[in-house]
This record gives sequence, C-alpha cells and structure tokens, in this order.
Amino acid sequence: MVFSVLTISDRCSEGEAEDKSGPLLCELLSVEGEIKEYKIVPDEKDKISEALIFLCDEVKSDVVFTTGGTGLAPRDITPEATKAVIERETPGISEAIRYESLRITPKAMLSRAVSGIRGKTLIINLPGSPKAVRESLAVVLPVLSHAVETLSGNTQSCGGNYK
Ligand code: MTE
Repeated sequence: MVFSVLTISDRCSEGEAEDKSGPLLCELLSVEGEIKEYKIVPDEKDKISEALIFLCDEVKSDVVFTTGGTGLAPRDITPEATKAVIERETPGISEAIRYESLRITPKAMLSRAVSGIRGKTLIINLPGSPKAVRESLAVVLPVLSHAVETLSGNTQSCGGNYK
C-alpha cells in the first residue's frame, strides 16, 4: 500500500510547534506499506483541498491520512476541505473510528472527521493529537488492505475471512 500523510495545523506549518502526529502516523504506517509523501499545511480550506488533490491525483496514494483540524475550533476546517475533493463518502470508516474512540473518551464526539474516495484514493481524516492518531489508526488498520483492494476493483475476497 502507498500512503501519504497530511498534517493540518497553523502552528506546525509556521514552525511554532513541532508536529508529533504526522511523524507518528508515518512511523505506524511504514509497517503496513510505503510512505510516499508527508506534508504540513495550515488550517486553510483551499490549501488543504489543494494538498489532498496533489496527494491523490499526482502522488497516486492508495490512502491519504490527514491529522488535525477536525474539531470545533473556529479555524478547524479539515472535514469541509475533504468533502470538497471527494467523490464518494465512506461514512462507515469515520463512524467506526468515532464509535471505538467513544469507548476511550467522550471527547471523541467532538471530532467532525470524515472520509471518502477521490479516484482510486481513500482519504481518512484523523484528529490531531498523537493519542487520537494511535487510537483511531488501530480501528481502521485491520480493514485497510481490503479497502484498497476493493477500491482498485478487486472484490474477489469480499465473501471470505470475516472476523
Ligand atoms: N479520538 C480519540 N480516539 N482519542 C482522543 O483523545 N480527542 C478528541 C477527538 N477525538 C480524541 C479523539 C478531541 S479532545 C477533539 S477536540 C477532537 O478529536 C478534534 O480534534 P482535532 O481538532 O485535533 O482534529
């Protein structure tokens, strides 16, 4: 699998804070596949959408993970920037992340994260903290390779291996 990671944070993009979540995502995902790109952008809708289009259409990532900007803060705009570039939503992925996360912390309901498909790429929003990244990724990792397989048109293994 080919992954890209997009950190969305005003402070990290300006060098005022160290990005911990992006590198953590890269580290955790490198066990599952190749990290093609890692970028940081500020909480600006157009810059986020532009970066997502690049990571999908040019880099041709199988999965793009974003981290940050999914909450209720005035500048949190990641879900809207994602919805602007996806062609089909994958609500089950984001529902599952929130459902499992709610068993850990009620604050999980404050993430407005979405996910969806652009071309042959799956985009998944994750919240911004390293803790949330770790917990959320654990929810989706078990289905990721099957998601990428079906996205590429191979639905042969859908019937088997239910857990
Ligand atoms: N999800 C998990 N699994 N673990 C967490 O600690 N934190 C929540 C939530 N989702 C959290 C979580 C908090 S405190 C917030 S404010 C929202 O994600 C939004 O985070 P973001 O604005 O950094 O994207």
